[in-house]
Amino acid sequence: MALFDIIFEGSKQALEAAKAAVDSAIEKKGSDAKVAFPETAYSLPAIYAATGKKIGTLGELRDALSIVESLIVPEQNLEKALNAGLATALSAEIIEACKYAVEEKPYSEPCVGFISDAVIRSLGVPLVTGDIPGVAVVIGEAPSAQEAAKVIKDYQNKGLLVFLVGKIIDQALEAKVKMGLELRVVPLGYDVTSVIHVVTVAIRAALIFGAVPPGNLEELLKYTRERVPAFVNALGSLSELVVSAGAGAIALGFPVITDQDVQEVPHYLIVQKDYDKIVPTSLEARGIKIKITEVPIPVGFAAAFEGERVRKEDMFAEFGGGRTPAWELVRMRDMADVEDHRIEVIGPDIDTLAPEGGKLPLAILVEVAGKNMQEDFEPVIERRIHYFLNYIEGVMHIGQRDIMWLRISKSTYEAGFRLHHIGEALYAKMLDEFGNIIDKVQVKIYTDKEKVIKLGEEIAKPKYEARDARLAGLTDESVDTFYSCLLCQSFAPAHVCIVTPERLGLCGAVSWLDAKATKEINPTGPCQPIVKGECKDEIKGSWDSINRAVQELSHGATKEVNIYSIMENPMTSCGCFECICGVMPEANGVIIVNREYAGMTPLGMTFGELASTTGGGVQTPGFMGMGRQYITSRKFLLAEGGIKRLVWMPKELKEALREKLNQRGKEIGFENFADMIADETVGTDPDSVVEFLNKVGHPALTMDPIM
Ligand code: SF4
Ligand code: NI
Ligand code: NI
Repeated sequence: MALFDIIFEGSKQALEAAKAAVDSAIEKKGSDAKVAFPETAYSLPAIYAATGKKIGTLGELRDALSIVESLIVPEQNLEKALNAGLATALSAEIIEACKYAVEEKPYSEPCVGFISDAVIRSLGVPLVTGDIPGVAVVIGEAPSAQEAAKVIKDYQNKGLLVFLVGKIIDQALEAKVKMGLELRVVPLGYDVTSVIHVVTVAIRAALIFGAVPPGNLEELLKYTRERVPAFVNALGSLSELVVSAGAGAIALGFPVITDQDVQEVPHYLIVQKDYDKIVPTSLEARGIKIKITEVPIPVGFAAAFEGERVRKEDMFAEFGGGRTPAWELVRMRDMADVEDHRIEVIGPDIDTLAPEGGKLPLAILVEVAGKNMQEDFEPVIERRIHYFLNYIEGVMHIGQRDIMWLRISKSTYEAGFRLHHIGEALYAKMLDEFGNIIDKVQVKIYTDKEKVIKLGEEIAKPKYEARDARLAGLTDESVDTFYSCLLCQSFAPAHVCIVTPERLGLCGAVSWLDAKATKEINPTGPCQPIVKGECKDEIKGSWDSINRAVQELSHGATKEVNIYSIMENPMTSCGCFECICGVMPEANGVIIVNREYAGMTPLGMTFGELASTTGGGVQTPGFMGMGRQYITSRKFLLAEGGIKRLVWMPKELKEALREKLNQRGKEIGFENFADMIADETVGTDPDSVVEFLNKVGHPALTMDPIM
């Protein structure tokens, strides 16, 4: 059969299967029964994005079948073939939606099925920074578990996010591939139709970050083609259904690379039978470039190992975490005082521990020198220690400064890993990422208890204190330059963050110091200085310089931004915000909800639902994304009266910020202000929240109307 006919045949099969699934679901549950995927504000995302319709019941789902049918027009041209591929994707979504309508939990370990909005939002920053350079969808079955593992691990080591569909999941299990979202290998499900769960990740990225209007199929496809760096590996025998799903991927702009004999379509459908070449062929087809840093250590080193835990049973050596004294520090020194690539271990190494392992004190002192280095960059570089050490396979790093905690696993020890390898990893990555500001790096690793304690007092503590003092003195008034950040424009083309000392980027990952360092590292990069000039309104946070920058950088989409206001020309949001703040009219205040909180809020919407109306680089007065640290900033919603407006937040977030909330409360005359803020234990309906606010005498109730 010719390729197009295979595609049409596959899409008809998919449609038939979708009809059958809907019929059977209606038989079981009735046509009024609800259909929904868990934890999303985008209904059935593929159908919603393609048609603008939100499907709520099985009956509506049945009506959607005719849309699918209309997309299948078996004429021999590429456009019709790609449409048929999209029809297959929609059929797959219908089939999967039926699973969720009929079964309580259609997916179980290790498969994850549908992926929540919150997860997609959390992927925003690593994708824009290139920390995750691409998304691989591996579907089907490799000739052997070894060959499957080779391909998957290669992607994993390169930092790609890998989704698995079909028998390849069992092969990965058999070959002991480490899996899980935090390890960037995600088994979706065994049925081909489960591939829709990664397709809707791409589709929701367009809705969340790109502000693509639902129902505008053309813009949707343009977005995924240009901005979502995904591709498909279809391995093993190809059914008509798989080929037709592949056509759907191609319609979205994702090339398909297969190990089977098929008629090739240049750039889009590529045959690669050599298992050593599948990965490079795929990366090339999607134009994904990987920067590799060679790190001479005896175990793996990749961003994919960042989320790996080292449990007690698997642990060989442990440092810090309250068990032994430990600290880490990056400090700037004169050129003459740093010998490049000098790595010293001072004290016993881990091979002097008992055979079953044990504990040691630890100090990691990284000394850097460079023409463009500034003392202000020390903490920026130091914070990267956490990531660089976590990239090491079998090494877990938690915390920072003198509360750091490090574990090394047995298998990593047995592979020959010793303490100087920590120095090697830090050396390689620091030069790699900060090459523009540092020319030389030396690393001293102390395990001698007396030295760790003594140097901690002499060198580390004074540094930490001096930095804290510097940060406390860093206010928006005390600097003459703010920064713009455009990193997220690769996903949210109209979005601009303005980063100031008292308002960090809404992702929480870019402080004013970070932005300043980024500018130095990459002078023409995503962070550019904005010389403040005269302030027009100190309360709203209005500067001509900012408005000019925002207009230019958003290509005219945003004309004016008041950086301290949520009601009047607020800052736009891209979609990867840590928290979202929204006005609660009944309480004359605002609520804040963090991405991790999955429950309901007093606005009648979950984080995901709130977030879905706030993003894509659009100004949405009354709703705004923000970094956690901004909540306790003195510039928090200054225009609306500041922290006094804060009436509700999830308990976990409140506890994490308690000390600072109380401190800020005290400054404006309230003791234990954190206790005046309602949370979900008080209630998630407006009435109980307002009742609570009245009881505690919350200041928001008597302020000027917020809207
Ligand atoms: Fe994106 Fe803003 Fe964070 Fe920059 S500061 S990475 S633009 S959210
Ligand atoms: Ni690790
Ligand atoms: Ni973003």
